[in-house]
This record gives sequence, C-alpha cells and structure tokens, in this order.
Amino acid sequence: MTVSTNNILVTGGAGFIGSNFVLHWLAQRGGQLINLDVLSYAGNPENLASLRDDRRYKLVHGDICDASLVNTVLREHRPSAIVHFAAESHVDRSIADPGAFIRTNVQGTFTLLEQAKQYWLTLDDAGRKSFRFLHVSTDEVYGSLGPQDAAFCETTAYAPNSPYAASKAASDHLVRAYHHTFGLPVLTTNCSNNYGPFQFPEKLIPLMILNALEGKPLPVYGDGGNVRDWLFVEDHCSAIRTVLDRGRVGQTYNIGGNSERKNLDVVTAICDIVDELRPDAALTPRRRLIQFVKDRPGHDRRYAIDASKIEHELGWKPTEQFEDGLRKTVAWYLEHAGWVESVRTGAYLEWIRQNYEQRTSR
Ligand code: NAD
Ligand code: DAU
Repeated sequence: MTVSTNNILVTGGAGFIGSNFVLHWLAQRGGQLINLDVLSYAGNPENLASLRDDRRYKLVHGDICDASLVNTVLREHRPSAIVHFAAESHVDRSIADPGAFIRTNVQGTFTLLEQAKQYWLTLDDAGRKSFRFLHVSTDEVYGSLGPQDAAFCETTAYAPNSPYAASKAASDHLVRAYHHTFGLPVLTTNCSNNYGPFQFPEKLIPLMILNALEGKPLPVYGDGGNVRDWLFVEDHCSAIRTVLDRGRVGQTYNIGGNSERKNLDVVTAICDIVDELRPDAALTPRRRLIQFVKDRPGHDRRYAIDASKIEHELGWKPTEQFEDGLRKTVAWYLEHAGWVESVRTGAYLEWIRQNYEQRTSR
C-alpha cells in the first residue's frame, strides 16, 4: 500500500498548539489533514471554524485510546505522517487527578504507536521509508534546574517531577522503544512553555490576561521566582514542520524560545500591557491585583532549553521576541471576547474554584 504524500494525521488538533499547527499547516501545504481529537475540556472545534468549508480538513471526534478507531482512521486516510499532540497537558490538574494523564498520555500514546506500527508495516518500501511519527513532548521531562545550571539539552537525564511530566516521560520512552525495537520512523520534540492565541485560560498567561482585564486577583504561586522559557506558538509550529521535513529519524530535538523569564516579571508585564490597551481608572495600575498564593506541590523552579541542536542541524531558531509576542497575545485575548466566553463553561469555573480556593494565601 502506498501512502498519500502530504496527507497527515494530527492528534489533539483542537487544542491550543494543535489548532495553531493545523491552521498554519493548511495555510502553507497541500494534501489532506485529519484531526483526531476527543474534544476534552481543552479541545475546541471553534478554533478551526475558519476551515469549515475547506475540503482538505476533516475532524474525527474520537479517542486515541480507541485502537479500533485509530486503525480505521489510518487505513481510510493513509497518512504519510502522524503529528501527535493529544495529551492531558495541565500540571495542576495532574496533581488533582493523575489517572487521566496516565490514560491519555501513556496508554493513548501506546495505542497510537501500536496502530501506527501495524499500519506502517502494510506500506510499500518507499512509503515505509518516508513515513514519520512525530511525538510532541515537553521540557518538563528533564526536571528542574538551579539558577546557574546549564540549560536542558537532548542528552540531559530524565527526571520528571509531576504526574504530568512523568506521563510525558513514559510516552517519550515508548516512542523511543518503537523505533529501537520495530524500526518505526519516529521523531520527538521537547519544547518549553508555549504562549499565544487559543490557549485555554487555565495556564499562566491567558489566566493572568483575563483576570487583569476583569480586575480579579492575580494568583502568583510561591514567591513568583520560578523561571520558564517562553516560546511563541507560531515559532513552535514552524519548528515542528522543520523537524518533520528534515529531522533525522530516531532523534530528539529540543525547542525553546530563548526567553527565560521569572513568573512575577511575566505577570507584571501583562498588567502593564493591559493597563495600556484597556485603561481603567478604577483598576490601573493592575500590578496591585497581584497576590502571592500557596505554591504548587513539587513546583519545578526553573526550565531552560538549549536549542543549539535544531539550530545547527536543521537551521531553525525562534523569531519572536517575548515582549512582542506577549503584546500580540494580550491583544488577541482582548479582541476575542466571544471565544473567551465560549470556553469559560461551568466545568471551567468549577476547576478555577477547586484550584484557587485552597490557595488563598501563601
Ligand atoms: P491542550 O490541553 O491545549 O490540548 C490537548 C488536546 O488533546 C485537546 O484538543 C484535547 O481534546 C485533545 N485530547 C486530550 N485527550 C485526548 C484523547 N484521549 N484522544 C484524543 N484527543 C485528546 O494541550 P497543548 O497545550 O496544545 O499541548 C499539546 C501537546 O504539546 C501536548 O502533548 C503537551 O504535552 C505538549 N506541550 C505543551 C506545551 C505548552 O506550553 N502548552 C509545552 C510543551 C509541550
Ligand atoms: O514547560 C512546558 C510545559 O509548560 C508544558 O509541558 C505544559 O503542558 C504546560 O502547561 C506548561 O507547564 P507549566 O506548569 O510551566 O505552565 P503553567 O502555565 O501552568 O504555569 C507556568 C508557571 O506559572 C509555573 O511556574 C506555575 C505558575 N503559575 C501558574 C498558574 C496557572 C502561577 O504562578 N499561577 C497560576 O495561577
């Protein structure tokens, strides 16, 4: 069986990074794109509403843990690549309910790999050679850095600290094993914290934008000195396309934004941008809304990415400056009040109550 060149299967394409990837991919490439997504609380088909009449795009509403469905999708659409985003992705939720993370991130990735392997074995020589399984993972698998430690590189030992990070680490190991044992042509990317349009407002940046806009408290965990390396989502999508096109099979690539920032600095920057774009005498300066609250258990202190491998081997580096990307992101949330209202359902409000009620002070 031959593969259909340029047809790809994306999992989790209705989530934050996945929907940005789908939109950018179809703006630049031909072929068909199948999006297999269970539409969990984090998956929103409205992110892809602009593709409603695009015959190259198809949403399959289903679970990556459903082996028979995955098998049918692969045989019907015969993709030349799978780009695997689907996951439970929020660290705080993994502390509240780790089981969901083991199911989707470990069992789901295993199911997808096993079905991908069986499909791949049915391809002809050329199809088997060109096929790719790209697994989207995280820098959190490497654990936590001290202030002076060198940034994570691809050979840094795994030391996941949260149930989320442990489930992603397990999935990375399964991907590696399917290459080593069965020869499945895999690629793995480990990236830093993404930000940009369509991010579900449970994560730091969109939560702080919306709370600042509405004059609500801005809950900074611990002392606000934790450091993350911020990667604009469009840069991440271009890195994934680069690895898919030119990455060496079986390799892993770290992807970062060259933008290490302390959480408190990110939150104050958001306050200042919202003050400027939405001045309100009763709320300005919004920095006054910052509240230091009880820390996340096991909170990793610092992440930093050494992205020299992807730069030297594949010629990719991030293009967005953090301050510019943050301004674009704030502007996007201010301009998309309808999207914001549509994702703030009862279940979302219940999560916010559950997560922040027990954190009232440090
Ligand atoms: P997200 O939570 O916004 O979206 C996840 C998507 O996966 C949703 O559309 C959801 O419906 C879907 N999904 C969940 N369980 C599924 C299942 N069982 N079957 C099919 N679909 C399912 O996540 P995100 O922030 O876009 O992250 C995407 C990927 O990138 C994840 O694998 C995550 O671990 C990784 N990652 C994210 C970041 C980040 O900063 N957001 C950084 C590094 C790595
Ligand atoms: O590093 C990559 C990871 O980045 C991804 O693998 C995860 O999917 C993604 O969620 C993200 O994980 P973080 O835990 O770093 O992201 P989050 O937005 O939840 O938190 C960012 C930092 O802000 C972290 O140090 C915790 C802190 N924080 C978060 C929230 C939600 C706060 O201080 N207050 C908050 O209310």
